[in-house]
Amino acid sequence: MTERSTEQRKILVTSALPYANGSIHLGHLVEYIQTDIWVRFQKMRGHECYYVCADDAHGTAIMLKAEERGISPEQQIAEVKAEHEQDFSDFQIRFDNFHSTHSEENRELSSLIYTRLRDNGHIATREITQAFDPEKNLFLADRYIKGTCPKCKTDDQYGDNCEACGATYAPTDLINPVSAVSGATPIEKESTHYFFKLPEFSDFLKTWTRDGHVQEEVANKLSEWLDSGLHEWDISRDAPYFGFEIPDAPGKYFYVWLDAPIGYMASFKNLCEKQQDLEFDDFWKKDSETELYHFIGKDIVNFHALFWPAMLTSANFRTPTQVCVHGFLTVNGKKMSKSRGTFINARSYLDNLNPEYLRYYFAAKLSSGVDDLDLNLDDFIQRVNSDLVGKVVNIASRCAKFITKGNDGVLSSDIADEALWQQVAGAADSIADHYENREFGKAIREIMAQADAANEYIAAKEPWKLSKEPGREQEVLDICSLGINLFRALMIYLKPVLPAMTEAAEEFLNDELSWGGDIQPLTGHKISKFKPLMQRVEQEKVDAMLEASKDAIAEAMA
Ligand code: 2FM
Ligand code: ZN
Repeated sequence: MTERSTEQRKILVTSALPYANGSIHLGHLVEYIQTDIWVRFQKMRGHECYYVCADDAHGTAIMLKAEERGISPEQQIAEVKAEHEQDFSDFQIRFDNFHSTHSEENRELSSLIYTRLRDNGHIATREITQAFDPEKNLFLADRYIKGTCPKCKTDDQYGDNCEACGATYAPTDLINPVSAVSGATPIEKESTHYFFKLPEFSDFLKTWTRDGHVQEEVANKLSEWLDSGLHEWDISRDAPYFGFEIPDAPGKYFYVWLDAPIGYMASFKNLCEKQQDLEFDDFWKKDSETELYHFIGKDIVNFHALFWPAMLTSANFRTPTQVCVHGFLTVNGKKMSKSRGTFINARSYLDNLNPEYLRYYFAAKLSSGVDDLDLNLDDFIQRVNSDLVGKVVNIASRCAKFITKGNDGVLSSDIADEALWQQVAGAADSIADHYENREFGKAIREIMAQADAANEYIAAKEPWKLSKEPGREQEVLDICSLGINLFRALMIYLKPVLPAMTEAAEEFLNDELSWGGDIQPLTGHKISKFKPLMQRVEQEKVDAMLEASKDAIAEAMA
């Protein structure tokens, strides 16, 4: 067991904030499921752990999306927030708070942090020249400029790279550039921008990124950036922009990525307002002894492991304990694709399949590294059916009837095979360590090895045969009671991954499953009647989900 888990820890955990202009898809869910499993594990171990998140509500994309739909940005973000919250809840993602970056708490904290950065001399201003849409009166980020690729001459390519030949270039290199927003030809225009002086934190970041706060492979990537020299970070955008106006700069707004991570603090602050005994400063003051974990994808490492710790340091707040980086999701070995129908929204999945299948499958494939995770749909069906239905549920379904019928549902007061019980219960510490270290795949492998041992024991004892032999009732009861206890131990280990199935198992076992310390067997305890705990995954349902995804994409594109 890790030394840490013996004392109660105070832990704040976040997942990246989803943008308020689109639906949650399975790619997002790798992260939310990973984080949720880790948080549920920490809570189960008795730690004081909070999981907060929010919608990332600001920026040009959301402003334009609202405009396209003929609604206000506020209406857009409210609708998406409701949708996101429903998707998360249906996937059993149990946030302690889900807020929005467009909130009073975030406005105040962003303003406070900016003011501290400025007063510490960490903000610079200077004029820059950018593409500007003269019809919309809007400065255009590279992705809002389209034109003909200067290299291969393919039309309709974005301002920074060509999807046809892979060339990268500046938007000014495009042939016949047009604004993707209005179709107008962009002009160049100057304006004053505000910059965060990131290079002043180079030495601090060189140490911080090698101090156990990120995985080694992430630290190596960060070293490349740190060694080639950091640049000042442009934190302002000109009106029109949906966001917070910079306090001392009318008409200038914080860039969405400035106030997005502050959204973690804001969501927690909002939670503190609702929960009297929770102190914001306990978790965010400099040198706080509480722990802070950010779970993120590998595409946003620079924001979380460079800009964010630097900002927090300048603003006199604590820095993260760890930034936990994961890879991307592929489906059947390839990038999720709208044309192949493998760009699967949370809702298309939920309409067809049990969310716990996916929670289990992701857990079985997750490690603490940044490798991509593949959802292979054939393997998904096979794995869930074989492990959960074929191994775990099978133990309970084979043993339960001999206890309900044979002994009125009361488990034996003896442990039929002490060595086997010790083996399965004794795996607890090692499994807990795997959870703690985000090695969920290893945890699942160990749990399934114990499930195999339990099944082998029952298969060898053949209680269904013994039950037909007069006078062997006690033996049958002892074997099946051990079987039920082994099943119970496995469900304790799986509880962070499978909350709904565990709830059904708790009802069957007539016992709330906890994992505070050593696992003791239930003896002389009355269980309830067995009901099937999980249905098999059906190929037809997976096919229906893929069809539904195609429809959802066609609808979104119409
Ligand atoms: O990449 C994204 O989807 C961002 N919306 C994540 C923000 S995470 C945090 F910094 F707010
Ligand atoms: Zn090209």
